[in-house]
Amino acid sequence: MDSRGLLALTLIFWYGCHGALSCPVRCTCHFGIQSVEAVCPDAALSRYPSDGLPGNTTSLTIQFTNLSSVSAHELGATTLLQELHLPGNRLSSLQADLLTGLHHLHTIDLTGNQLQELPARVFYHAPLLNLVLKDNWLTSVNADWLPANSSLTWLDLSGNKLRKIPSALLQKLSRLETLDLSQNLLEVLLAESLHSLHALERLHLDDNRLHSLDAKAFSHNTNLTHLFLQKNKLSSLSATVFHGLDRLQYLDLSENHLTFLTPGTLGLGISWVELTFNPWHCDAKIEYLWKRLNNMEVQSEPRCASPEALKDKAIAALMRKELGLAD
Ligand SMILES: *[C@@H]1O[C@H](CO)[C@@H](O)[C@H](O)[C@H]1NC(C)=O
Ligand SMILES: *[C@@H]1O[C@H](CO)[C@@H](O)[C@H](O)[C@H]1NC(C)=O
Ligand SMILES: *[C@@H]1O[C@H](CO)[C@@H](O)[C@H](O)[C@H]1NC(C)=O
Ligand SMILES: *[C@@H]1O[C@H](CO)[C@@H](O)[C@H](O)[C@H]1NC(C)=O
Repeated sequence: MDSRGLLALTLIFWYGCHGALSCPVRCTCHFGIQSVEAVCPDAALSRYPSDGLPGNTTSLTIQFTNLSSVSAHELGATTLLQELHLPGNRLSSLQADLLTGLHHLHTIDLTGNQLQELPARVFYHAPLLNLVLKDNWLTSVNADWLPANSSLTWLDLSGNKLRKIPSALLQKLSRLETLDLSQNLLEVLLAESLHSLHALERLHLDDNRLHSLDAKAFSHNTNLTHLFLQKNKLSSLSATVFHGLDRLQYLDLSENHLTFLTPGTLGLGISWVELTFNPWHCDAKIEYLWKRLNNMEVQSEPRCASPEALKDKAIAALMRKELGLAD
């Protein structure tokens, strides 16, 4: 056979196989060796794309559409689903049995919907590792959303309207590695709130209204490597609040209301601390911070907010005399 004949035969074979592979209108499907991905990004889509969805779909993305509901029955047609991404739709509620039968689902992303409340046991039925509820309208979180033996490693509740740390739910999440509670309305962090999170590595509490951290707030989170506390209302910190966090590499305290740091606050191990945009008052009480800034290798450059004579001066560059310290 000549090469043209071979090409024709190849094409016929290709269409023979792939022509039969279905995909819903308004979606594109990718058939890999071990995965089948369907992506439906069409704003005009208003209904779940059941027609033509491959039964062996492993990853389904329906994003920025007009979709306002999904049912357990619809998802039940694709029992091999491992990932379900539904960002930017118009979902305002979820069925309690939504994930029944999805024994392989490890990731669900519901970013940017209109979820206000969720039914009990809503995430019981799948072996979830990653749960993203970012940018919804949640005012509270119930412990009964997840089972006691949850294997969740990533929980994102950022961009909601939470006023309290969801401690009862967190109690169940001893394997959690990343917790994002940024952009909520949190005001206080109590001693017990995060106690069961022994595996926690990244904690995002930035952009809340936190005005106080219990001295023992992080005492059980000794695996923390990144702690984000910027954009809060912290005006003082207990000297021991970060003690024991021996693996901490990054601490962000910028944009708070701190005027000085109590001696001992920054443990020796921390390699990067963001301290900018606080109203640092540069007098003798700033000595500890001044010394630490001169000892740390890499550092942001916080500046004095007051007194007037030192305003906007970099703290690290101040002279002992300017701080009113004896030589
Ligand atoms: C999915 O089903 C299609 C059509 O039956 C088949 O050709 C493909 O090999 C399957 N893929 C996987 C990853 O199971
Ligand atoms: C979106 O869906 C609603 C009903 O759920 C319908 O009234 C509206 O026309 C739809 N919008 C678009 C752009 O399809
Ligand atoms: C949790 O326990 C229930 C039964 O108590 C079981 O059906 C389920 O598979 C378990 N889930 C995980 C993630 O271990
Ligand atoms: C803490 O992190 C280390 C290294 O990543 C890991 O081996 C250990 O299991 C973690 N501890 C917990 C309680 O998860």
